[in-house]
Order: sequence, then C-alpha cells, then structure tokens
Amino acid sequence: MPAEPVELDQGVAHNARVWNYWLGGRDNYPVDREVGDQVSSMFPSISQVALADRLFLGRAVRYLAGEAGIRQFLDIGTGLPTVENTHEVAQRVAPEARIVYVDNDPLVLAHARALLASAPEGVTDYIDADARDPDAIVRGAAETLDLTRPVAIMMLGILNFITDTREAQATVERLLEAVPSGSYLAITHPTLELGGEANAAAMRFWNENAKPAIVARSREAVTRFFDGLEIVEPGLVSCSRWRPEATPGGEPDTVAQFAAVARKP
Ligand SMILES: C[S@@+](CC[C@H](N)C(=O)[O-])C[C@H]1O[C@@H](n2cnc3c(N)ncnc32)[C@H](O)[C@@H]1O
Repeated sequence: MPAEPVELDQGVAHNARVWNYWLGGRDNYPVDREVGDQVSSMFPSISQVALADRLFLGRAVRYLAGEAGIRQFLDIGTGLPTVENTHEVAQRVAPEARIVYVDNDPLVLAHARALLASAPEGVTDYIDADARDPDAIVRGAAETLDLTRPVAIMMLGILNFITDTREAQATVERLLEAVPSGSYLAITHPTLELGGEANAAAMRFWNENAKPAIVARSREAVTRFFDGLEIVEPGLVSCSRWRPEATPGGEPDTVAQFAAVARKP
C-alpha cells in the first residue's frame, strides 16, 4: 500500500485508466476518456477486446485453480481492480490460494487495497514494480509465494508494453526459471493478424497520444513466449475462443487478442 499519496499524471492518457474506461469503470480522467473514445472511433471493437480479455482471465483462473490444481498466482500487469479480480476467482475455487499482483501504474497502486481483500484462508499481496524488472518481481513474490511449488504466471495484456521482443522474451524466461515444473504461464496479447489495419492505425494513434507505448505481435512471435512449455487445448486462439462457456448462437466472435495457457514440464 502507498505510504504517501501517489502522484497521478492527469495530463496524458495512461493504459490502466483507459482500459478501465473501456471496461465501463470509473477510475479514469477526462484525458483517458478522450483518448479511449478516439481509439474506439478508429477501432470500434476495442471495448469488446477488453471485456473478452477479462472474461478469459476468469475462465483461465478457474481452469488453473480447478483442473490444474494451482494454488499460487503471480498476476503481472494487474490493471485497476474491477469485478472478478484474479484472487476472487481463484479463492472461490480454493480459498487458500495465494496471489501476488504486480503493476507500475500509480493509480493501480492507490487502489491496491481492493486487491488485498483476501479470503482469510489465503493471502494477497501487491508489488509496485516494472514488468521489465523480473528479478525484482521474483524477489518480491518470494515473500508471499513458495517458489518451490507450482505458480501460475499471468501476463494478460502486458507483454505488449515491453516493446523490444528480445527483452519481452528474456523477461518471460527469467520468470519461468524462478518457478518449478508444474507451473503455468497464461498470456493475452494484441495482434494485427486479428485486428487488421484499423487496429494498426489505432495503435499508432495510441503511441502518439498515450502511455506506455504498445506493440502488436504475430502468432509466431506470441507462440515463442511459450517455447519449452506444453500449451494446453485449444492452443493459441483469440481470447474469446479459449474454452468459451456454452452460449446460445454458437462460438463467440473473435477479438484481436491472442490467448494461451501452457504448463512448464
Ligand atoms: C491492458 S491492462 C491489462 C490489465 C489486466 N491484466 C487485464 O488483462 O485485464 C495492462 C496493465 O499493465 C500495466 N503495465 C503496463 N506496462 C507495465 C510495466 N512496464 N510494468 C508493470 N505494469 C505495467 C498497466 O498499468 C495496466 O494496468
């Protein structure tokens, strides 16, 4: 929790706050809403992307805590608290689940209290850290998680902010090195293979008007983050199509965000 009031930059749109706006939340400023609306006018399905990503989070955490038996979660690039945060989903399946959240946005830090409301049997913690500093994350996580036991590393909508692909890969590798066999990695990542030119134009606009800079990646590049892991069914797909719950009207529409879950052998 912040010991002192955090400094919030209300002059430039920030990803955590714009994401919150697209999800229908209220933790955002006029500058975030302006940029959010502008992106939506260029790429109208962006709020469906945000919603589908959060719904994927729920299904992935239920799978991990349920079928996969995971009891420890490291959620990097957490976002502002919303309905169905990782600890709520995980602790509904396993109240003893331990969750460490990581983000570097000052407003997420200011709202971290909502992420720390653990079930009494479990624990939640929040680390104010940069995803590009995996050593600091591992050190901080080790205070709450037992890193000799399996951990699910959640990196939803975050590797796209590590714009250098080699750095992003090295970050994932370092995090995976720190956890044992039987651990999992869950990723969502924007892709122009599903988003097309309108998505590319919206990302260019974002990079000129908001923080932090974003990059989309191809199926091949996102698949490389899972090198050496066993990707569970149905593989790397649009996040809306990852083990969707039965809906009338058949399969959900795809959104421009890849998702996959994989196990460390
Ligand atoms: C698109 S949101 C995704 C939130 C959540 N994981 C979800 O899937 O709904 C990305 C989050 O990553 C955080 N973020 C961006 N760059 C970061 C960095 N270098 N280190 C830590 N967090 C970062 C932002 O503050 C934001 O909260």
